[in-house]
Amino acid sequence: MITVVLGTQWGDEGKGKVIDYLADDVDIVARYQGGANAGHTVVVSNRQFIFHLIPSGILYPGKICLLGNGVVIDPVSFSSEVEYLEENGISVEGRLFIAENAHITLPYHKVLDQIEDKFRGKGGLGTTGRGIGTTYADKFNRIGIRAVDFLDDGIFKEKLKIAMELKNYLFHEYYKEKMLNADKIYEEYGIYRDKMEKMVRNTSLYLHEEIEKGKQVLAEGAQGTFLDIDFGTYPYVTASNSIAGGACTGLGVSPKRVGRVIGVVKAYTTRVGMGPFPTELEGEEGEALRKTGNEYGATTGRPRRCGWFDSVLLRFACKVNGVDELVMTKLDVLSGLKKIKIGLSYEFEGKNYEDYTFSSKVFSNCGVVYEDAEGWTEDISKVTEYRYLPVNAKKYIERIEQLIEVPITKISVGSSREQTISR
Ligand code: IMP
Repeated sequence: MITVVLGTQWGDEGKGKVIDYLADDVDIVARYQGGANAGHTVVVSNRQFIFHLIPSGILYPGKICLLGNGVVIDPVSFSSEVEYLEENGISVEGRLFIAENAHITLPYHKVLDQIEDKFRGKGGLGTTGRGIGTTYADKFNRIGIRAVDFLDDGIFKEKLKIAMELKNYLFHEYYKEKMLNADKIYEEYGIYRDKMEKMVRNTSLYLHEEIEKGKQVLAEGAQGTFLDIDFGTYPYVTASNSIAGGACTGLGVSPKRVGRVIGVVKAYTTRVGMGPFPTELEGEEGEALRKTGNEYGATTGRPRRCGWFDSVLLRFACKVNGVDELVMTKLDVLSGLKKIKIGLSYEFEGKNYEDYTFSSKVFSNCGVVYEDAEGWTEDISKVTEYRYLPVNAKKYIERIEQLIEVPITKISVGSSREQTISR
């Protein structure tokens, strides 16, 4: 059976910790979309690990981890993560796989991503600059290079030449930027091809066979629901399907195999990069949340925009993903606030919106109808049982459950594995 774990907001909900927590009970952890734009932070025995590509399940000895066909793989990032793990005594030998049909991010994707976003000027998306959108664009334009092509000397050389001719034309003629050299890339990437060779396989078939044997799979989503290319706040989104449905296309598994969907939700809301954010807190209140919550991007180091909990977003996220249960993270960050606001609905031109809307006119310009919740002053970071949480913290959780109609089964009150309350 497959359990999907995904973010229900704009990413950075704390999926890394949740996946790490759940990985103990599964055999395989598989990522289904995104690339080196993700940033999963996991703290184990006071040591912090940050992953961009490799599933955080790799920290558990013996677990199999894989990057599905829906992931775009930057060989440089991938190899440096493998090295980093091995330097820290974590061997990936025989337990880390890459889908043959996953697309490869090459230097021109990264350069083009950065140039394009700069070129958009004020309309820039604030991408991570990791070549994500441009790799997916090549995939859909059918000029991408898959892992299986990357490993085949003749095919890689030929495909690289064709792709580079087109990209260099753009760099030189249109963007007036430096051209890249295909032969140099070919030479430089030889080392990565050697490193990845043993890991590349038909992961769809592999998953099928393992599930048939009764193995448990955790499908790990990156980014979050509102960064999804179809259901997010387009165009301020990433270039893949981060919603639960993406797990099927991004791993090559049947929807019939997905038995459970776990949503990860932060006790407030954050967003990195550009795009609308109705419950955003500007000024001192936002700054205070950012400081207490240490809200800085794990991939780019950019300060995250912070705001109140938005139940409109959550209700939609739970529906589009079919969320069975929620894990709430960073509740401890709210300790010490006198009043906490919960976004209930939006208001635009005299009309009330209880549901998420794809209209960017409404979503970018709406006001928010809030409800106040009473805060608490106690430090909750050492609480391990629900009954010991302050009354107002429990009221906050239960009010959110009531608004979303999905149970919150776990609450995280700190970054380590132990700081997790199960209900
Ligand atoms: P891209 O995925 O690099 O193309 O960036 C598109 C948008 O998604 C930008 O606003 C990024 O800041 C955002 N984004 C991408 N990956 C993450 C993530 O892991 N967490 C939060 N935001 C992300």
